[in-house]
This record gives sequence, C-alpha cells and structure tokens, in this order.
Amino acid sequence: MPEPTVPDHQRLAAMRRSYERGGLDVGDLAPTWSAMLSRWLDDAEAGGVREPNAMIVATAGADGRPNVRTVLLKGLDDATLTFFTNYASAKGRELTANPVASILFPWIDLQRQVRLTGAVRKLGGAASDAYFASRPYGSRIGALASPQSEVVADRAALESARDALTARHPDPPGDVPRPETWGGYVVEPDTVEFWQGRPDRLHDRLVYRRGDDGSWTTARLAP
Ligand SMILES: Cc1cc2nc3c(=O)[nH]c(=O)nc-3n(C[C@H](O)[C@H](O)[C@H](O)COP(=O)(O)O)c2cc1C
Repeated sequence: MPEPTVPDHQRLAAMRRSYERGGLDVGDLAPTWSAMLSRWLDDAEAGGVREPNAMIVATAGADGRPNVRTVLLKGLDDATLTFFTNYASAKGRELTANPVASILFPWIDLQRQVRLTGAVRKLGGAASDAYFASRPYGSRIGALASPQSEVVADRAALESARDALTARHPDPPGDVPRPETWGGYVVEPDTVEFWQGRPDRLHDRLVYRRGDDGSWTTARLAP
C-alpha cells in the first residue's frame, strides 16, 4: 500500500524570498493611476514578464460567491480598462447581477502587483465589432463555436462546432460575424493600489482613491 500523501509543509514554509528590487514612494507616483499603470506595464514588458497584460478578474454574482479568472487587458485610457469575453459566460452572468470587478496584475518577477476595483459596463457594440474584426480568423471562429462556461459533451463536440462554422464562414473571405454574446467590458476603477515588495515584509503600498466628488487622492497603506 502506498503511503498516504502528506502535504509538504516544510518545503512550502521554506519558500520565501526577500524583495529587494526597488521601492515606491509618493514622489514616484504618476499624476494619475492610469499613467502609473501604463508605466508599470511598460516595466513589466521590458522586464520580460510573459503576457504582462494578463490580469486576474474577480467577480461575484448575487450570491456573493467570488470567482476569479485570467483575462487579457486590451484597452487602457485615462479612466478605464477594457477586456473582451463572452457575455453569457459565468463572469458575464455575475457582472449582470453585480456589475463590479476587482482586478489584479500579478507581476511577481518584478516583485510588484497592481490591484484595482470598480464599476463595470459593456463596451459599445461598434467598438466590440471593431476589436472582434481585428482578431485572427481562428479566434473569431473559436469565439462563435464556444458557449463559454457551459458544459460540453467532449472535445469532439467543440471541434465539430468549429468545423461547421468554418464551412459556413470560410476564409477567405473570412467574414465572421461577432456573436451577440461576445464583446468588451469596461472597468472604471475607483481604487487602484500599487504594491512593491521590500525587505523584511515592509512592502510599499500606495493607493489612488476616487472620492465622492470625483477627485483623486493617494495614500500609503500598511503592508
Ligand atoms: C493567459 C490567459 C488569458 C486569458 N484571456 C482571456 C480573455 O481575454 N477573455 C476571456 O474570456 N477568457 C480569457 N481566458 C480564459 C479565462 O481565464 C476563463 O477560463 C474564461 O474566460 C471563462 O471564465 P468564466 O467561466 O469565469 O466566465 C484567459 C486565460 C488565460 C490563462
């Protein structure tokens, strides 16, 4: 009989690094959270982070049960972040019930994370159409073929749906209509925290917060 598996507490307990790459002070902050995020995205890309625009998005439906998943940031402006997904997916249903999300960029190799929370709305149809049209043909067919988050019988069912859609919308001309259930979500954060690891667990945490009057302030949080 094999021995029962015992979680390797010692090994996990010993997994610890000192964070010494840099610091973050109020004077280092860009005038806006979005300029700061843009700067740290540049650093992540220059620092060799793979998929630096990958972000963890947490949602919770009416039952309050949290759910997280990775998506790709596809738009950033002065006030908002945009990602694309299936509106009928689990996250889509949760965002319909409770249009708020919390987002995390886990740039662990840079000893950094950014955390944002804010209201979520759908991107306009024309903008979703434009982005959908810019995606590779296979991705557009895949979006059409996949009822995201639904149970499917097996892989073959997905592949035959793809094959049927490929026959219906051949490439060329490659015109694949954007599914009604697919599009962008726009997140307008009211809280954005920049975290930089420091030695002795005295990390730097600086947060931009939007007040009721719409103005932004910054503060340092205890690590
Ligand atoms: C690196 C990475 C990037 C991803 N990007 C997206 C994305 O941009 N949009 C999306 O809908 N799903 C994306 N996914 C898949 C999601 O994590 C998730 O499996 C899917 O959206 C279904 O989530 P839900 O059932 O909670 O709605 C990505 C996954 C990974 C690992």
